[in-house]
Amino acid sequence: MNGKREVLFDQLKKLKVEVEKNSLKELFELNPNRFEEFHVSLDDMVFDYSKIHFNKQILSKLFELIKLCNLEEKRDAMFKGDKINITENRAVLHTALRANLNHSVFVDGEDIIPDIKEVLERMKSFSTDIREGKIVSSTNEKFTDVVNIGIGGSHLGPQMVTQALKPYHDGPDVHFVSNIDSSHLSDTLKGLNPATTLVIIASKTFTTIETMTNAKSAKKWMQEALGEENANKHFAALSTALDKTKAFGISDDRVFGFWDWVGGRYSIWSAIGLSLMIAIGAKNFEEFLQGAYEMDEHFKNASVEENMPIILALIGVWHRNICEYATRAILPYDQRLESFTTYIQQLDMESNGKSVSLSGKQLEVNSGPIVWGEAGTNSQHSFFQLLHQGTSIVPCEFLVAVNNHEEGMDIHNQLLIANCLAQSQALMNGRDINEVKTILKNSGLDDEQIERLAPHKVFRGNRPSSTLIYKKLTPKILGKIIALYEHRVFVEGVIWNIDSFDQWGVELGKELATKMVSYIQGNEPKGLDSSSVGLLMTIKKWNKNIN
Ligand code: F6P
Repeated sequence: MNGKREVLFDQLKKLKVEVEKNSLKELFELNPNRFEEFHVSLDDMVFDYSKIHFNKQILSKLFELIKLCNLEEKRDAMFKGDKINITENRAVLHTALRANLNHSVFVDGEDIIPDIKEVLERMKSFSTDIREGKIVSSTNEKFTDVVNIGIGGSHLGPQMVTQALKPYHDGPDVHFVSNIDSSHLSDTLKGLNPATTLVIIASKTFTTIETMTNAKSAKKWMQEALGEENANKHFAALSTALDKTKAFGISDDRVFGFWDWVGGRYSIWSAIGLSLMIAIGAKNFEEFLQGAYEMDEHFKNASVEENMPIILALIGVWHRNICEYATRAILPYDQRLESFTTYIQQLDMESNGKSVSLSGKQLEVNSGPIVWGEAGTNSQHSFFQLLHQGTSIVPCEFLVAVNNHEEGMDIHNQLLIANCLAQSQALMNGRDINEVKTILKNSGLDDEQIERLAPHKVFRGNRPSSTLIYKKLTPKILGKIIALYEHRVFVEGVIWNIDSFDQWGVELGKELATKMVSYIQGNEPKGLDSSSVGLLMTIKKWNKNIN
C-alpha cells in the first residue's frame, strides 16, 4: 500500500496548491451551497466541515485512501475480534461492550458475550444497591462518597464522563484520584468520612505504580479509622488481574473483571465505568452504551460520503499529511466537557503517536498530530490569540450543545453558542489591512496612528475549523461523540498503517523511574549522566527524608 499511498499524497498536495488559489472565504462566495455539500448528520448530531480548506475533488481523492488501505476489511476485522493489536497479540473489542448482546462475538473460539453480560449485570446490581443503601458500609451506613483510584484509561474516561453528565448525577459523590503526588490523594480524602466512603481501585493490570501506591495509602487511611477487618468492606476493584485483587484483600464479589481485549483508553464501556454507573445509575449508563452502539452501527453501515468518523479521520489526514499542520485543537464549547480534550489526548496520542509501521519499518509519512485544547469560552481569553494571529496554523474542532440543562439561563446558552460560531467565522474570514484601516479611521485616529497600529490588528484568516453540534449533552449523545473519536483514531491509524492499540512508548520512562527511585532511596547512582546526578544531589541536600 505504501508506494500507492505516497502517490495519492503527492496528488493531494498538488490539489492543495490549486484549492488554495482561493481563500476559504472565497470558496464560500463561489459556492453558496458549501454547508449543504460539506456536512453530515446523524440523528441529533450535525458535523459541519465546510470550513475545511478543501473541495469535492480533494474529498473524493481522500476517499480513494479508504479503498487503498482496505479500511472496510480492517474495520470488520476489528468488530469480529481478529487480533489486530499485533504487537500484543490481542483482539480489540471495546465495541463488543456496547453491542447488541443477543449476538455472539468470538475470541479464540469462545463467545465473549456471556461474560460481558454477566459483568454488566453485576455492575448494575452492585451500583443500584450502593445507590439505594442496600449495600452499606462497615458501620451500617449508606455510602455517601466513592473514590475512584486509577490512572490513564482507568481514570480519564470515568472522570471525564462523570463530569460531563453531572445533570444525571443522583448517586453518591464520586471523586477521582490518579496522580502519585501525595497531594492528590490527601486533598481528596481530607473532606471525606471513611465510614461512608467506598474506594474503587481501577487498574487493568493491578500493577500500575501510581494506582497501587495510592490504593495502599487509601487502605491505610481506612484501616486507621475503621480497623483492618472493616476496612476491606470499603473497597472494590476493577481489573483483569483477579489474582492480584484477591492478594490486595478485596473479596471476589467486590471485583468486576474485564479482559485483555479492552484497551485501557477504550475501557470506559467496561467495568472501569463502575464509578460512573454509581453516579448516574444503570439506566443512564445503558443509554451511554447505546449511544456508542449507534455510532458503531453508523461507522459500519454508512457510505464513506455519509460516514462521520471516516470524514473526521480524512480531515485529520488532510491536515497532518498534506497541509503538514503539527497539531490540532479540540475546543468544546461545553463546560462539562472540560476534561474531554485530556481524554482525547490519551485516546489519540497514545494510539497514533507512533513512528513505525505494522511491520516495524520507520514511517515515511507523519502519524498522529499533537492534540490540545480547552473548553470555550475560557480558551478565547488565553490561547486564541495564537489561533488567530500566530505563525502556526492550528485546525480547530469545535463542539457545542444546542440546548443547555439549566432552566432560566438561556442568555448563557445563547452567548456560548454565538461565541463558538463567531470564532470559526473569525478564523475563516479574518480581517484584512484595508478593513482595519477603515475601522481605525472611523474611530478618529490620524494617519500616523493608523499606519502604526494597523498591522497589529490584521487577522489573516483562512484558518480551517470544523463544528460538531448536538442537541444536548445527554448520556446517549456523549456515547456517540466518544465513539466518533475512537473510530476516527482507528481510521487514521489504518491510513498510517500503524498499531493504534499498543503503547510501548510509555514503558521506558516507567522502567527508568524504578531505577531512579532506588537512587533516591539511597543506592549509589551508577552510570548516570551529569544532569541526573546534579539533580539527585540537590534533591538529597534539600530533602531531609532522603539520604
Ligand atoms: O501507562 C499507560 C497505561 O498503560 C495506559 O494505557 C493505561 O490506561 C494506564 O497505563 C493505566 O493502566 P492500568 O489500568 O493497568 O492501571
